[in-house]
Amino acid sequence: MLLEVRAVTKRFSGLIAVSNVSFTVERGEVVGIIGPNGSGKTTLLNVIARLAPASAGAVLWKGENIGGLRPDQVATRGLVKTFQNPQVFAELSVLDNVFIATHLALKRQLGVRRVAELYGGGRAAEAALRDEVEEVLTLCDLTAATHQLAGNLSYGEEKMLGIAMGLMCRPELLLLDEPGSGLGREELTNLATVLVKVHAAGTTLCIVDHKIGFLRGIAGRVIALDHGEKIAEGPPDQVLDDPKVVEAYLGTTRARA
Ligand SMILES: Nc1ncnc2c1ncn2[C@@H]1O[C@H](COP(=O)(O)OP(=O)(O)O)[C@@H](O)[C@H]1O
Ligand SMILES: [Mg+2]
Repeated sequence: MLLEVRAVTKRFSGLIAVSNVSFTVERGEVVGIIGPNGSGKTTLLNVIARLAPASAGAVLWKGENIGGLRPDQVATRGLVKTFQNPQVFAELSVLDNVFIATHLALKRQLGVRRVAELYGGGRAAEAALRDEVEEVLTLCDLTAATHQLAGNLSYGEEKMLGIAMGLMCRPELLLLDEPGSGLGREELTNLATVLVKVHAAGTTLCIVDHKIGFLRGIAGRVIALDHGEKIAEGPPDQVLDDPKVVEAYLGTTRARA
């Protein structure tokens, strides 16, 4: 088992954003997390990635309680979260953005001195890095945009760059917060293709989405949240037909959309 979320609760003063949520993720899975706006999806991912401390409960990564670790230490262990709106350097090229992500990932993994050695001395090391960057750009369908400034990308491409940067941390489990939000139909199809390729290349995925439509084709299992609580878990179609899930979405956006 890669990840175990054990009875996690997250409070913001009086408000309970995540309430006693438990689930596990096995290596090789694609797990979806759905729920209406404000149901606690982002907060749950933040607690898992240690971007926010849990108020109660525990997060175990490969059996180790990671409650005391910093987000970068968690990322170094292979647990990486991408942001809903990626933080890219607009004035730099796509290539340089991915290189910077590599640099940060290496710095975390190997220590600053080792990075200096790699960048200063070894041509072979630099060539290997370059290969890896190219591989990730190809995987994310960004080859044509390699030399464009990140600030000139479409929203869909920018989100894809955020995923590419996350992949440079060599995640074993990649947590994606609404990767499909704000995308058009064609961009969504493209995103699904990329995520299927990333998964096939060996990365376990945990994908948050507001609506289930996007996840239905790619997630093997879906967890539904409402008001911070887990209200359903199972195969996508089963969760979709769950009366509690239908009710949670009534009056807001329909889950099937
Ligand atoms: N930093 C914060 N401080 C106070 N309340 C927050 C904070 N972050 C989220 N919340 C609240 O927690 C609840 C869950 O939010 P969130 O996790 O962003 O939901 P989702 O991602 O499902 O839309 C919401 O009621 C939201 O207003
Ligand atoms: Mg959110």
